[in-house]
Amino acid sequence: MEKISDYLCRYKNYIFTAGMTTAEHIDSLQSFEIRDSDVFVVTYPKSGTIWTQQIIISICELAGGLNEYPNNMEQMPWLEYTEGRPDDALRPSPRLFVSHLTPMLMPPGLKEKKGKIIYVMRNPKDNIVSYYHFSKVVTVLESPKNFDEYLEQYLTGNVLGSSWFDHIRVWHSNKDQYNILFLTYEDMILDLKGAVQKICSFLGKNLSEAAIEQVVEKSTFKNMKKDLKANYEFLPEEKLNGKFMRKGQIGDWKNTFTAEQSERVDRLIQERLGDLNLKLIWE
Ligand code: A3P
Repeated sequence: MEKISDYLCRYKNYIFTAGMTTAEHIDSLQSFEIRDSDVFVVTYPKSGTIWTQQIIISICELAGGLNEYPNNMEQMPWLEYTEGRPDDALRPSPRLFVSHLTPMLMPPGLKEKKGKIIYVMRNPKDNIVSYYHFSKVVTVLESPKNFDEYLEQYLTGNVLGSSWFDHIRVWHSNKDQYNILFLTYEDMILDLKGAVQKICSFLGKNLSEAAIEQVVEKSTFKNMKKDLKANYEFLPEEKLNGKFMRKGQIGDWKNTFTAEQSERVDRLIQERLGDLNLKLIWE
């Protein structure tokens, strides 16, 4: 891996946090055996990963056949990180994973439409603000000096996960190769029950109305924030010195962005992703 700062390194054109994975592990994903029952949540960081993780785990628990784990991160580990990595070959099905990787780094077996991917996108202005605050509380990332400087870093793609624009483009333009459901953070905020129903039907889980309501209850911001298995407060303080669950809103970017910064992001979306006709919700 090529070191680019004390916090970040680059491998295969993608930026990782230093010390959380190895080139060997990332290479090994190219021969990772996919099972039909595997489920992956894929996101650009700060787009609703742990929220979708909670929804999927709750659905699978209620549908039956899921082993108990101490917390959501062990139940549904990050594919790309090596720390605490279970032996995936020995894990019982259905195996659940989360990932921030791009298609070329993911196991190629997924392209045979084995396994399922749920891709969650968040509008980039709220995404940047969430990422900015997160970078201040998580010790594996460099704490930004101010928002202006952080915005530059984000827009040049010099952050964990590389460029938001590239992530969105590459997943959208490769979607036909995968068994994939696209959701947005904003749709989940505006209609959580609708999102739960979509995920259930994509996963082929037939839950009763009461069970669906239970998943929704477990996944609201208020309840998840108190859920010790789901809120990531189980991470040691030397890793996370603040909250994963911060505000959970659409439109918080307006409290941080200047009009000029906002117009600049609008222009970039138009220039770089205009042809995708993305439905972005800003408030
Ligand atoms: P904010 O920082 O804007 O509050 P990720 O899991 O990809 O790191 O994303 C984290 C973001 O998702 C944070 O956004 C967090 O508060 C939000 N989030 C987590 N659980 C949520 C929930 N149940 N409802 C709404 N937002 C949630």
